[in-house]
Amino acid sequence: MSYPVVLIPGDGVGPEVTEAARQIVDATGVSIAWKIHYAGGEAVERFGQPLPEETLSAISAAGTALKGPLATASGTGFRSVNVEIRKRLDLYANFRPARSMDGIRSRYADVDVIVIRENTEGLYSGLEHEVVPGVVESLRIVTKRASERIARFAFETARKYGREKVTCVHKANILKLSDGLFLDTARRIAGEFSDIAFDDCIVDAAAMKLVIDPTQFDVLVMENLFGDILSDLCSGLVGGLGVTPSANIGLDAAVFEAVHGTAPDIAGQQLANPTALVLSAALMLRHLGEADAAERVETAVRRVIADGEWLTVDLGGTASTSDFTEAVIEQLDVVPSVASN
Ligand code: NAI
Repeated sequence: MSYPVVLIPGDGVGPEVTEAARQIVDATGVSIAWKIHYAGGEAVERFGQPLPEETLSAISAAGTALKGPLATASGTGFRSVNVEIRKRLDLYANFRPARSMDGIRSRYADVDVIVIRENTEGLYSGLEHEVVPGVVESLRIVTKRASERIARFAFETARKYGREKVTCVHKANILKLSDGLFLDTARRIAGEFSDIAFDDCIVDAAAMKLVIDPTQFDVLVMENLFGDILSDLCSGLVGGLGVTPSANIGLDAAVFEAVHGTAPDIAGQQLANPTALVLSAALMLRHLGEADAAERVETAVRRVIADGEWLTVDLGGTASTSDFTEAVIEQLDVVPSVASN
């Protein structure tokens, strides 16, 4: 059996890092029927628009996509193709694990947190208007429905990943109605998951505590803006966006992508580090039910980075994108229990 997966090469370094991820996934032996579709600058060149309907319907039909970074196309009516994809496919949960890696210098050696961000509303609902000249208003939308499904997603994720605690991050002390609803909903959903501990933390305190001692957190769930900020903070705790995988998940589709951009300064030169997208592809494998293959990919990437021989330029090495890719493929068959670090 083959899993259908839409592959969006993306712009800039996108084709290089998606090719690396595709080769590594194929080398695990999991059979993927890759279907190439376009979005971003490449789609503007081919079809005159950054998000062709056929790309969206292909993702809906396949249910899964692996996506390279997309250049922001100007003058097309879309502020961001990424946001548009999330909206159109109702990818309501952004899922970002941040785990320390041997070989990547960062402040802590033992970070292992998962940030889950509500992706569809909050201050990112796109509802802004000018009240009177010089005064604008942005509406921050919080609904019971969206709060319920993201809370449930957080607890289900905690279960799936063998985690012990979910922390709801909020500002309900000030935003009594909106974050009050988000927090009350998370508390209520927590009652359905007696095997997972639950607590909550005010967002400013959470930022401070993450910096002082990130090991006190396990799974964090929060609304859109807080999640945008704290997920980057957590990436920073483990070495930055270049090594952080990400997934946007809905009921009917899931899109796996790196969080870095198109890196136009190094595009086409085999200088890109594909780690973030390769780890996103590992999340995809787990999502497809191929946990062993996912584990093998993650372990192989960790070994190559810890070993230090095949590091890309951004990590202080001299290896090309394809050198790194080959090194990861070589490590895939190492038994995970021996390999893990
Ligand atoms: P960027 O992430 O593309 O680049 C920032 C710096 O990080 C550059 O020096 C770049 O060389 C480096 N870098 C990024 N990815 C790397 C990788 N895989 N390996 C090695 N070095 C890497 O951010 P920037 O310059 O702000 O944005 C460039 C374009 O990317 C813009 O058009 C922006 O809209 C788009 N973008 C797309 C995203 C997406 O599709 N998910 C996310 C962020 C930006």
